[in-house]
Amino acid sequence: MEMNIALLPGDGIGPEVIAQAVKVVKAVAEKFGHTIHFEEAPVGAAAIDLTGNPYPDETHEVCLRADAVLFGAIGDPKYDNDPKAKVRPEQGLLAMRKKLGLFANVRPTFTFPSLVHKSPLKLDRIEGVDLVFFRELTGGIYFGEPRGRNEQGTKAFDTNVYSKEEITRLARMGFEAAQKRRKLLTCVDKANVLATSRLWRETVQELAPEYPDVKVEYEFVDAVAMRLIQWPKAYDVLITENLFGDILTDEASVISGSMGLMPSASLGTDNKLFEPIHGSYPQAAGKDIANPLGTILSAAMMFEYAFDLREEAKTISDIVNRSLAEGIVTEDIAEGGKAYKTSEVGDWLAANI
Ligand code: IPM
Ligand code: MN
Repeated sequence: MEMNIALLPGDGIGPEVIAQAVKVVKAVAEKFGHTIHFEEAPVGAAAIDLTGNPYPDETHEVCLRADAVLFGAIGDPKYDNDPKAKVRPEQGLLAMRKKLGLFANVRPTFTFPSLVHKSPLKLDRIEGVDLVFFRELTGGIYFGEPRGRNEQGTKAFDTNVYSKEEITRLARMGFEAAQKRRKLLTCVDKANVLATSRLWRETVQELAPEYPDVKVEYEFVDAVAMRLIQWPKAYDVLITENLFGDILTDEASVISGSMGLMPSASLGTDNKLFEPIHGSYPQAAGKDIANPLGTILSAAMMFEYAFDLREEAKTISDIVNRSLAEGIVTEDIAEGGKAYKTSEVGDWLAANI
């Protein structure tokens, strides 16, 4: 197969972890006889420095031309302590999601047998956890209008807004995923308080008869926040709005024992983007110490979700599991054993594929 992949390394450790994913993708392509073309473009603080815009038009063009986008991270501390900064790197991420129509953010949470002991949760709670969030990504309070301040600047407001259509397309993806998994779908909302949540619940209730093999549960977001940590095995597929999904997926990442390991896919009708769920980790930038596995596992999701190449995806997750078992890992998970450099982990994985 011929594939065009846009590379958006972004900020902080982004370029280092993307470089390792490229090694792995090239090795997989060679093994399975695929031809891959990469095209790189700036995003985030890196793009602000170059063009003044965190998501320049040229970068958007590169993404539109590609079959899939592989993205590192966004964010630079020089903007974090300046709430009045007019242009912020994160705006690049939000603009990218919106302009590429990436309405579904797929964030799996699973455990690695060799790492379960690193989770702060008890072993019997997390061993074998395998759940996936479908977070709505281009609507809700992140984008709703009006937003801002009153004239005196003494009141601020954001608007949470959802259309039936936005809920339906996200929910359908969740139902379809559940059909291929353990056939349990949890709709996470706050329908006891919010009008938007009541529309979510009503819409999902209307869709449910079309998926008779899927059991649907409705649960308030506060209760999910609790049960996700108490008994995560209770969940299979969870669907939820943008803000709830943002918060709950960070919480869920704790289950796996390392945020550096969790991948994600952001899917739209025409475009698909893959990125680790961790941030730009500026303290580690340029030091060759960051954990590249979240990005590498995102590349595995890319093979599966963008090209329907499951065996290629499995080749990557298998080799990642072997590297963990054999201790070919970066310092964040080395635990007194030898800590390998970011680039060494990438080299080892590529060589062993
Ligand atoms: C995420 C991040 C972003 C979000 C930020 C950086 C805008 O936290 O991808 O989860 O809130 O969506
Ligand atoms: Mn987040």
